[in-house]
This record gives sequence, structure tokens and C-alpha cells, in this order.
Amino acid sequence: MKILIIGATGTIGSKIYQSLKNDGYEVYGAHRNNQEYPVDITDKQSINLLFQKLPKLDAVINAAGTASWKTLSELTEDDYYLGIQSKLMGQVNLVHIAKEHLVDNGSITLTTGILAEHYEPNAVALSLVNGGIHSFVNSASNELDRGIRLNVVAPGAIAGDFPTDKKFAGYYPIVIEEAIKLYKQTLTEKITGQILKKY
Ligand SMILES: NC(=O)c1ccc[n+]([C@@H]2O[C@H](COP(=O)([O-])OP(=O)(O)OC[C@H]3O[C@@H](n4cnc5c(N)ncnc54)[C@H](OP(=O)(O)O)[C@@H]3O)[C@@H](O)[C@H]2O)c1
Repeated sequence: MKILIIGATGTIGSKIYQSLKNDGYEVYGAHRNNQEYPVDITDKQSINLLFQKLPKLDAVINAAGTASWKTLSELTEDDYYLGIQSKLMGQVNLVHIAKEHLVDNGSITLTTGILAEHYEPNAVALSLVNGGIHSFVNSASNELDRGIRLNVVAPGAIAGDFPTDKKFAGYYPIVIEEAIKLYKQTLTEKITGQILKKY
């Protein structure tokens, strides 16, 4: 199974990459500063080029995307557009491009997080894009051809990035292995349109 991980050097992406490699999969890691497989999810052309370099992938997992961390009062319209261009439309464009390039019955996995449904100060803009992606996956998964599946993993804060004794959005951090299990579930189980949450 040939699997592409976007955001492969991040807190989440690096652990997905390593775990899938350890399991014996053929894994490719991409991110903006990667020499061999550079990609910027805010740029459609860059996503297209990546898929042209990596034909006949069985799966793509995205663990990249950002948004502004500010209070509601501080957020400007441009601040919202950062998240809309990156974590929201970056992942939506990825789906549009991946669905044309993956093999039949291929799998697309996106990443959101706990902020889609739980409040944390300064995270309004992230909540917006996470919620948008959940609705998108719920709907768009019904319109994919050739058996292509689309799911999203929504983790809580990852322990290590966050202190384990402090709550984030009302919940204690999870260990990364719990999130990795969900990403693997999207690869190995015949599920689609699912929002796999762990927090
Ligand atoms: N960490 C957590 O506790 C946590 C919890 C729940 C959800 N999440 C979500 O999970 C996702 C990943 O989080 P993370 O903490 O693992 O991030 P991270 O540690 O900041 O890593 C981000 C990864 O994505 C790449 N990247 C950043 N912007 C990119 C872009 N525009 N195009 C392509 N690659 C890009 C980075 O490499 P380059 O800089 O080289 O591009 C890096 O490999 C985010 O959407 C985050 O909101 C994180």
C-alpha cells in the first residue's frame, strides 16, 4: 500500500509517518520544506505537482493546516482567511485533486480537532474551519467515485505539545498513539464519511 503523508514532520504527521513505515507500508512524506516532495496545501498547483510525482497512491493523509489564534474581538476578516485558505480550503482542494489521482478504492484522511465542538479561548477561527471540514466530509464523501473513501480524524490536544495535567478545550490531552489508531482505522476499514474523534 502506497501512502502519502502531508505534514510529515509535524507533531502528528511525523508519528503517523514513522508508525506506518514500521508497519511495512510504502510511505511518502511531504511538507513545504521537503526537498523531494515539497507541497504547500494553500496552493492548488503545488498539490497537483505532488500527485503528478506520486501516481497510483492508495491513500493520502493530511496532517497540515493552520488558523489564527486570537480572541473573537481581535480577529479581523484577514485573520479568518488564514485558516480558510490553509486548514479549510487546503484540505478541500486536496480532496478535489486526490480524488482524480488515487487508485480505485483509495482513501483520503483529513485532520481537524477537538475545537470543532469544544470551546477553548483564542480558538474561534480554528473552530470555524474544523466544523466546516466536518460538514464537508459528511457531504462530499457521498459524491466520490471509484470507491474512494473520505474520512477525518479529530484529535484532542496531543500530550507532549500540551502538559498532561492541564485541560485543553475541557479535556486532558491524549497520547499520540490514540490518534494514530484512528488514522490507521481510516486506511484499513471500509468506512467513509466518518469523523473519528478521540478526546
Ligand atoms: N498538535 C496537536 O495537539 C493537535 C491536536 C489536534 C489537532 N491538531 C491539528 O493537526 C494538524 C497538524 O498539527 P501538528 O501539531 O502536527 O502541526 P505541526 O507540528 O505544526 O506540523 C505541521 C506539519 O505540516 C507542515 N505544514 C505546515 N503548513 C503547511 C502547508 N501549508 N502545506 C503543507 N505542509 C504544511 C509542516 O512542515 P513545513 O513547515 O515544512 O511545511 C509540518 O510537517 C493541524 O491542523 C492541527 O490543528 C493538532
